[in-house]
Amino acid sequence: MTGRHTKQEIGQKYNDFASKYDLAEAIPELLGLRRLRKSLLSQAEGNVLEIAAGTGRNLQYYPTGCNITAIDLSEGMMGIARKKASDLGITVDFHYMDAEDLSFEQDSFDTVVDTLSACTFLDPVKALGEMARVCKPGGKILLLEHGRSNRGWLGRFQDWRADSHARQLGCVWNREPQDMVLEAGLLVISARRSFLGIFHTVVASPPTG
Ligand SMILES: C[S@@+](CC[C@H](N)C(=O)[O-])C[C@H]1O[C@@H](n2cnc3c(N)ncnc32)[C@H](O)[C@@H]1O
Repeated sequence: MTGRHTKQEIGQKYNDFASKYDLAEAIPELLGLRRLRKSLLSQAEGNVLEIAAGTGRNLQYYPTGCNITAIDLSEGMMGIARKKASDLGITVDFHYMDAEDLSFEQDSFDTVVDTLSACTFLDPVKALGEMARVCKPGGKILLLEHGRSNRGWLGRFQDWRADSHARQLGCVWNREPQDMVLEAGLLVISARRSFLGIFHTVVASPPTG
């Protein structure tokens, strides 16, 4: 449930889990997540803000020439991302920051990226609104999120286990990412579902006017 943890508790949970995160992700990455990340991030350009960057799994996929800023609420996760950036030989400007309250000026970035994190935000629509605020007009908001499956049996299973799943790492796995994107007022350029309707790849822009 969204109200089960405070932000501080979520940050602490990810600090505690940081050293195991990449191992836990290994199978989904091999099954296709890696391909989705790579395809989405190939569209990043210019000044890039990555929201809730975690252990930096996306860093290897950014095109050369991107100038990357990354934020997260977990210093433990960012510690691993820092090491990856250093191993890759890329410079990343890391900040401890809340996705729902970004301290950047409006229209600061050409591309804003968020992968697999809207499930853990207490107010995902607010976070998406912040992404739109800091993204330049006509810039890209690149999202890879997971949510409630559109296969009846699987969606019902996710509903049934949602509370116990959310207790582990704050991940609410039966949200509807595309509804949240529309509620935040983003202009959807393309949206695609995969993996039994669980994963959503969305390319969007900030609202105009
Ligand atoms: C499931 S991990 C995803 C990490 C990474 N984006 C990826 O694709 O592997 C969720 C991340 O969101 C971060 N997070 C949760 N709530 C946040 C918030 N309000 N602001 C910033 N980061 C947050 C957690 O610390 C964690 O690193």
